[in-house]
Amino acid sequence: MPFPEGFLWGAATSAFQVEGSPLADGAGASIWHDFAHTPGRVANGDTGDVACDHYRRYADDVVLMARLGLSAYRFSIAWGRVLPEGTGKPNPKGLDFYRRLVDALLAQGIEPMATLYHWDLPAALQARGGWLNPDSAGWFADYARTMFDALDDRVPHWLTLNEPWVVTVAGHLQGEHAPGHRSLYETPRVAHALLRAHAAAVSAYRTVGRHRIGLAVNLEPQHPASGDAKDLAAAARRHAFINRWYLDPLFHGAYPPELEDIFGADWPGYTAADLAGLPGTVDFLGVNYYSRGVVRDDPADWPVRAARVRQDDRPHTAMDWEIYPAGLAEILLWIKGRYGNPPVFITENGAAFDDPPPENGELQDAQRVDYLRRHLLAARHALDQGVDLRGYFAWSLFDNFEWAYGYTKRFGLVHVDFATQRRTPKQSARFYRGVIHARGDNPDSGE
Ligand code: FCB
Repeated sequence: MPFPEGFLWGAATSAFQVEGSPLADGAGASIWHDFAHTPGRVANGDTGDVACDHYRRYADDVVLMARLGLSAYRFSIAWGRVLPEGTGKPNPKGLDFYRRLVDALLAQGIEPMATLYHWDLPAALQARGGWLNPDSAGWFADYARTMFDALDDRVPHWLTLNEPWVVTVAGHLQGEHAPGHRSLYETPRVAHALLRAHAAAVSAYRTVGRHRIGLAVNLEPQHPASGDAKDLAAAARRHAFINRWYLDPLFHGAYPPELEDIFGADWPGYTAADLAGLPGTVDFLGVNYYSRGVVRDDPADWPVRAARVRQDDRPHTAMDWEIYPAGLAEILLWIKGRYGNPPVFITENGAAFDDPPPENGELQDAQRVDYLRRHLLAARHALDQGVDLRGYFAWSLFDNFEWAYGYTKRFGLVHVDFATQRRTPKQSARFYRGVIHARGDNPDSGE
């Protein structure tokens, strides 16, 4: 059975990970630019200065996307290109880049899906307290409105935030992402600020927008490592911490009570009034799925007390993430049951592997083909169970800047030689083109 008509077959990237030229044409630096230029923060001292040079090569890249058969492309907008100081007067050259990108996509029949925030806060705003500044929701809504005015006539799907959980936890609790804070106090407050920013942008969209808006969350089922009651409770805690933290407020107007237990004295004690206005702000949900967690109770694990247990007998990617395709169907069915079957796009799914170098213009990445095939079958299974799944976006179109890992982890369907910027579609890109061509009919069949 083919996937439904109109199902979107895409690939995803984000601005800082692929564009390069972060300060070109009057753009303002982002927190990731500063972070990457701080010694010790990113593997090998890698930066986003060049990345995939997509800012300059976007036109050829869009032609390549068409050759791969993509019907959609998910990209993000660098806030600081559009508003170099984060607020104020838009920079016409920055806006123009995204106009040209969208026009090039449409000229090839590729549907654009735009993310407003994929982690690259303008550094000027971080200097003013970042998300913790009480004005942050207003800043974000103003920026969002600028983009709606410029592009909503041509962009049918918008995402406000990409993975707010990662912004919160990697950026403000663990300190592994920009801005590199480690603060139990800041973490729940940043999460709340992000939700308010999302709601403010959606409210702007309701007055000027004509299409659909949502956000993308990273989700992973959490399974107990044993039948022990403590492990069951640990898995439930981690499930609340990762999967319900944002979705419960967005769909049910309440934070999971487990958060109070996790943050203790640092939990701000939000009330229902603090979350009013969130339900109804998600026209569709973006789900980024990579793996699952198997967890056991561990008092030493800070602050959730639920440690991940590596499943040594199971296959893992180069990120050391367990390959667990069934978890994709599981999490999609969980969303359907808990949140009333909203329209969903898989906005990211993919894997890093230590690919061999290209040879004679080809690169064999059988493991990635297998990963994609299994996850597409899981997506198909979810559809058959009544999940309102509207599209699938592979992460990523290109090998790119993988945050704190720099260029050491390759997720692309297309190999990028970072010395020459040569692009080589991998075997997985050919596989995916075949899948798209057959509308997903039998993703077993391969090329
Ligand atoms: C997600 C991010 C994306 C990419 C993948 C591997 O968390 O949204 O930018 O880094 O992981």
